[in-house]
Amino acid sequence: MVEGRMSKPLLIVEDLRVEINRHGSIVTPVDEVSFELQQGEILGLVGESGSGKTLTLKALMGLLPPGVVQVGGSISSRSGDVLQPLDPEKARGRIMAMIFQEPATALNPLRRVRDLIAEPFIVGHGVARNEARAKAVALMRAVGIPDPEQRSRAYPHQLSGGLRQRVMIAMALATESTLLLCDEPTTALDVTIQDQILGLLVELKRERDLTLVLVTHDLAVVSELCDRVAVMYAGRIVETGATADVFANPGHPYTAALLAAVPRFEPGGGDLTTIGGSPPDLRNVPSGCRFRTRCQYAFEECATAGHRLTHVADERQTACIHPAWIERGVAI
Ligand SMILES: Nc1ncnc2c1ncn2[C@@H]1O[C@H](COP(=O)(O)OP(=O)(O)O)[C@@H](O)[C@H]1O
Ligand SMILES: [Mg+2]
Repeated sequence: MVEGRMSKPLLIVEDLRVEINRHGSIVTPVDEVSFELQQGEILGLVGESGSGKTLTLKALMGLLPPGVVQVGGSISSRSGDVLQPLDPEKARGRIMAMIFQEPATALNPLRRVRDLIAEPFIVGHGVARNEARAKAVALMRAVGIPDPEQRSRAYPHQLSGGLRQRVMIAMALATESTLLLCDEPTTALDVTIQDQILGLLVELKRERDLTLVLVTHDLAVVSELCDRVAVMYAGRIVETGATADVFANPGHPYTAALLAAVPRFEPGGGDLTTIGGSPPDLRNVPSGCRFRTRCQYAFEECATAGHRLTHVADERQTACIHPAWIERGVAI
């Protein structure tokens, strides 16, 4: 296992492959996905709807839905100076927690907020119930929920969407995980609340020395908050690198097309659906590069060429076999 030069990865994912068997035909919504997560960074994960972002995070958590199976790849995590295979069952709720897109459906509606947040303290850390509830209230305060004492007795549906998302963040913090996988944590919220929740995540990251993966549709948010970005297309990561570097100088036509679709990176202004054509049906993906059917640079070799991420610069990788075409400034 080779580590990047500058890096001290907290997590290394190599060749992750997830399959779904639908009536005997097998599709691979996550295919040979590899990336590293550096201690203390925010990694942005972007790509159109259906590109496999959520399933990638769920695979890391060992929370794949029924019928969806991890069939290949390895995940390693760092403990001190040692990298060791990660057991998602053991890591979940200890070193990593996931914040879901839809707090309305992700929270158990039958339990009071204080018990939802207290649970990880009780189950994961053996804290007594009363003490765990007191810790839950303290966490509610830490994530900016006003009147936490009173609200701790509420049920999730009695809170606004923004407060529910704060509850979910508090639940993640209650696990004492240092790695948070945030799956479009603000998509379901009003624009003003979105900013508040993102601000909260960044503040908590700083205060608690967290490492974040942030899945978002909003390239302005990636540009502003994420140290590095990984771009997914049809189940594969097609490009990864430092955000400023990738955005200034995309090395994959798909990244370039995404950026061209939201030229001014206006907050909330990019829903990534403005690229011509649509992503391939997973039952019938193109051979070679999966983007080639929408790519204006595609030529014959793209149908047979490998699609693996290759280093084009120190910390920069692209899966395109002729990234220089974009570098020359050919307009998309
Ligand atoms: N529980 C499931 N059963 C069957 N197919 C699924 C399931 N979850 C996701 N998929 C399929 O896997 C692909 C990737 O989904 P997902 O990871 O949710 O994409 P993203 O988060 O990037 O929008 C999609 O084609 C989706 O339809
Ligand atoms: Mg998703």
